[in-house]
Amino acid sequence: NNNGTTSRVASPTSNVTTELADIDWDNLGFGFMSTDYMYVMKCSQGENFTKGELQRFGNIELSPSAGILNYGQGLFEGLKAYRKHDGKILLFRPEENGLRLRMGAERMCMPSPTVEQFVEAVNVTVLANKRWIPPPGKGSLYIRPLLMGSGAVLGLAPAPEYTFLIYVSPVGNYFKEGLAPINLIVETDMHRATPGGTGGVKTIGNYAAVLKAQSAAKAKGYSDVLYLDSVHKRYLEEVSSCNVFLVKGNVISTPAIKGTILPGITRKSILDVALSQGFQVEERSVSVDELLDADEVFCTGTAVVVSPVGSITYQGKRVTYGADGVGRVSQQLYSALTSLQMGISEDKMDWIVE
Ligand code: COI
Repeated sequence: NNNGTTSRVASPTSNVTTELADIDWDNLGFGFMSTDYMYVMKCSQGENFTKGELQRFGNIELSPSAGILNYGQGLFEGLKAYRKHDGKILLFRPEENGLRLRMGAERMCMPSPTVEQFVEAVNVTVLANKRWIPPPGKGSLYIRPLLMGSGAVLGLAPAPEYTFLIYVSPVGNYFKEGLAPINLIVETDMHRATPGGTGGVKTIGNYAAVLKAQSAAKAKGYSDVLYLDSVHKRYLEEVSSCNVFLVKGNVISTPAIKGTILPGITRKSILDVALSQGFQVEERSVSVDELLDADEVFCTGTAVVVSPVGSITYQGKRVTYGADGVGRVSQQLYSALTSLQMGISEDKMDWIVE
C-alpha cells in the first residue's frame, strides 16, 4: 500500500471491438467503430514512403518520445466511401485529400506519400473493410488517414521516423441534430488560428485547440462554435470542424483562404456546384455583422457535409435563419452534393472515383 496510489503494471490495452451484427444502420452517428483492417506505411526522415501494408485493425505501438506525442507533429485527413445500389463503391475527390496532406506535410516538416500512393492506400483500405460500408442511403464509411512523426525525439526537432496510417469507421450524421439546423455561438475570446500559424493545414493541434470553447458552447446547448479572425476579431473564420457560408439573395459568400482557414474539399466543391447552378460565389473577408443580414447560413465539411445553421448567437444576440426549417439554398446544395457523392446524379465534374 502506498497511500492509495498503488501502481499496477498495465495490462496490454484491449481494443474495443465493434461487431458488425450489432450496428444499427438506421441510427449511425459520428462515433468510432473498429473495423477489420488498417493500412500502415513507414519511412525514415529524409527518405520517401515506398511500400505499405494492410494490418488487422488494432492498437499501435509508439515510443513515449514519439514526435507526435511530444510535439504534435501530425496531420490527419478525412474522406468518405459510399455504397451504391448497384454494389459499386464511390470515393469523392480522394486525390484532393492526398494533395492537401502533402501541403500540410511540407508545413509540418514531414515526408508524405505521393498522391498516387495516397489514393491507392485509400482504395486498398476501403476494399479490405468493404463489409463495414453502410447500405445505400444509411451513411458512409469515413476514412481517416493519419501522418505522424512516430520516431523518438527529445530535443525539439522533426522526428527520425514517420508513419502513414489509414483506418475507417462507418458513420452517419455528424451533428446530433441530424439534418436539422444547428445552433452556433460566435467565440470572441479564443481563436482557432493566427496568421503565419498552422490554421490552413490539417494538423492535429488545430483540433485540440478548439475543444475548450467547443465544450463550453455545448454545455450551454449550442451545437458548435464559430471563430473570428485573431487580428481584427471581426471577420468570420470557420466552425471547429467545418467551413462556413452565408447566402444573401443569389450571392453565396465564404471567408477567403488566407492561411488561417482550412481549405475544405467540400468547401471548394460547393463553390463549384453553386456556380454551376447559377449562383454568384464570393471568397472574401466576411464580417460578423453580415450574419445579421444573411438569408441563410450553412457549414460544409467532409464529416458535416452541408449543415444548415438555424441560429447564431453573437455577443448575447441571437439571429435565426430559415424560420420554416432548412433554407432553400442550403437544401438545394446539400441535395446536389450528396446525389453526386452517392452516385445518384451524373458526375459531370469528374469528381467520383469508383
Ligand atoms: C472532416 O470533416 O473530415 C474533419 O476532418 C473534421 C473532423 C473534426 C471530424
